Amino acid sequence: MNSREYRVENMIDPETQARPGQPAAQAMPEPQAPDFRIIGKATPRIDGAEIVTGRAKYTPDIKLRGMLIGKILRSPRAAAEIVSIDLAPALALPGVVTAMKLAEGVVRYAGQQVAAVAAVDERTADKALGLIKVEYKSLPFVVDWEKARDASAPQVRAGQPNVEEINTYARGDVEKGFAEADVVVERTYGTGFEIHHPTETHGSVALWEGDHLLVIDSTQAVHGVRDGLARALKVPAANITVIKTYMGGGFGSKLGVNEHTVAAAVLARQTGRPVKILLSRRDNAVCVGHRPSSLQTYKIGAKKDGTLTAIRLTNTASGGLNAGDEVAEPAVDIYACPNCRADEQTVYTNTGGSRATRAPGHTQGAFGLEGAMDELAAALDMDPLELRRKNYSTRNRGDTGLPYSMKRLDRCYDAGAKAIGWERRNRKPGGGVAKGPWRRGMGVATSIWWGAGAPGTLADIVLYPDMSVEVICGTQDIGTGTRTHMAVVAAETLGLAPNEITVKLGNSDYPWAPNSGGSQTTPSVAPAVRDAALKAVERLKAAAAARLKVDAGDVVMAERKFSSKADPSRSVAFADVYRDLRRETVFHGERGGMPMDAFAFNTFGAHFAEVEVNVETGRIRVLKYAAAQDSGQIINKLTAESQVIGGITQGLSAGLFEERVMDDTTGNPVNPNLRDYKIATSLDIPEITAIFVDAYDPRANNLGTKGLGEPVRIPSSAAVANAVYNAIGVHVREIPMTPKRVLEALKRKEAAS
Ligand code: MOS
Repeated sequence: MNSREYRVENMIDPETQARPGQPAAQAMPEPQAPDFRIIGKATPRIDGAEIVTGRAKYTPDIKLRGMLIGKILRSPRAAAEIVSIDLAPALALPGVVTAMKLAEGVVRYAGQQVAAVAAVDERTADKALGLIKVEYKSLPFVVDWEKARDASAPQVRAGQPNVEEINTYARGDVEKGFAEADVVVERTYGTGFEIHHPTETHGSVALWEGDHLLVIDSTQAVHGVRDGLARALKVPAANITVIKTYMGGGFGSKLGVNEHTVAAAVLARQTGRPVKILLSRRDNAVCVGHRPSSLQTYKIGAKKDGTLTAIRLTNTASGGLNAGDEVAEPAVDIYACPNCRADEQTVYTNTGGSRATRAPGHTQGAFGLEGAMDELAAALDMDPLELRRKNYSTRNRGDTGLPYSMKRLDRCYDAGAKAIGWERRNRKPGGGVAKGPWRRGMGVATSIWWGAGAPGTLADIVLYPDMSVEVICGTQDIGTGTRTHMAVVAAETLGLAPNEITVKLGNSDYPWAPNSGGSQTTPSVAPAVRDAALKAVERLKAAAAARLKVDAGDVVMAERKFSSKADPSRSVAFADVYRDLRRETVFHGERGGMPMDAFAFNTFGAHFAEVEVNVETGRIRVLKYAAAQDSGQIINKLTAESQVIGGITQGLSAGLFEERVMDDTTGNPVNPNLRDYKIATSLDIPEITAIFVDAYDPRANNLGTKGLGEPVRIPSSAAVANAVYNAIGVHVREIPMTPKRVLEALKRKEAAS
């Protein structure tokens, strides 16, 4: 066992609700959010017009004088020794400026970079790639993880086994828990390989100005890419600037520095010219990550009344050349259960490495756990929502860990059930009303995620005497609306309107902010902006006090004036106070810490789906969807709703259509494009109702706000699968739930009856 082990002596005292040596969990009075003027309301994106009119510049739009186009040659073989690479024929082609080798020794997946060229235009670069002569000596490979488990399978990584050691989490005693159970269910669920496929593929432009490297990159992490480039190129981080302009999504595939970005920087150094490398849609499907697969078996025991006594999970995950995701968190955390054990294992294969994909691990885990909970509810003859409420936890680690800083999942259950009309649901799975071959059903699923934000995030506010205001933060807007959130928080605090704020972000020379992953951007950046803005207000109040000849503490700010508290008729207009600053004035803000040793900071959600299933064709139609989220204080209702709709769209798409398929005779994917890799279209997406429960969490940060981007993705495939189960009476335990799998499940049901 490893450090994740949790011992039975750490369990809570049922009387005091405390762990040994801990005070009893304190009930917190209902925190009251300040009476916000703009925060929490619907604010249109400040850059909306720029984006929809095409004026916003994305990395592919960047054109610099003398810029070369870089292209990367990739291995068509899944495993091979590279005998030789001959660049000479490519270099001889007019218009080719440079070429270089990127691989030596062996390649381990089809798509691995082998060589690169830089040429005056795209056509020439493409042609040059075809002229590079590579001699490969094929090696045995394995791309199917079930085959890779076999002792006789080709070794994927030099000198290391294909199957990693088991990683175990345990608390209590699961065997004892099963002995105490009245009902035990054991079921296996599978999730496939999902590709991120952001609208904008990866791309980088690199340019050297003397010793200084400037990179314009489509990235979720300007600071992370800067640091990664510094390490890869052995250049001081201070000599590198990474800029992200506008961006069409990432979903985890754009965290950290990419190989092609390093290649662009090296080609630019060799040629003394700017170099742009854009990845093709195929590259995007092959070499910049995917969600690992999982095969999860849950054994869950419960008393007759639904009280859980034990949860046992075993999972095998495959992430190609990277580790798979651990999927246990939902099983470990969501429900109160004293006995829990999870054993997880990774299997390596000769495919491109996985990467974090919107709520890594939790998404897969929620599909398995929440499916098993519904099958348990059926075995207990209990309402699945009731079963979830019955096992509600107020502390993490299934009620054996820290109390939550705030948890409003109960309100999510109430609000979501109301919005979908849960009372209309079939009482028993398979009781779906027949209308020809169509059956109807409803399902629910729960999410837990982190996302309280990163302490130490910095932001500056600059006030100018002409009353213009600048907010500067080295974060990035990856499409979520971060620019607007920064403007909203600054405007709220300074008594201005969002469109009066100039926002600067997406530059690693700006004050530090974390990567845009883990749903941490808003709860990191917004509190830092708030902090800077509060300091700016103090300064403005002091300036106003001097004019009004009162103490700064006696100045109030409202309606674009500062007034004397004692005599509101005495006031001074914003414009005059700003003018008194005489020069631009900078205020530094920082997102503070949180009491991590006293509380668990999490986000929650409950999703409800209503579906129709055709029992003759196996087709699933999602009719209606309601998502209730506890993500703390919402900063902008409009962009928050967009996150909910986007995350659910992605979840429905993964649940119904998406799957990378490998050809195990060639070791290449058969669907590395958007024609053969199916994703949902607008016609597949139902009406989605987004609900944000009041969950202002002052323990998290000065705005009580938490993340939303990943929470909305987590339970969506599970909610649909549970609705399908409710409709047809048999659980489709594998995603995507293709018509074939639905029909197979129906056959299984027939065979069983
Ligand atoms: Mo996210 S998968 O942390 O971008």
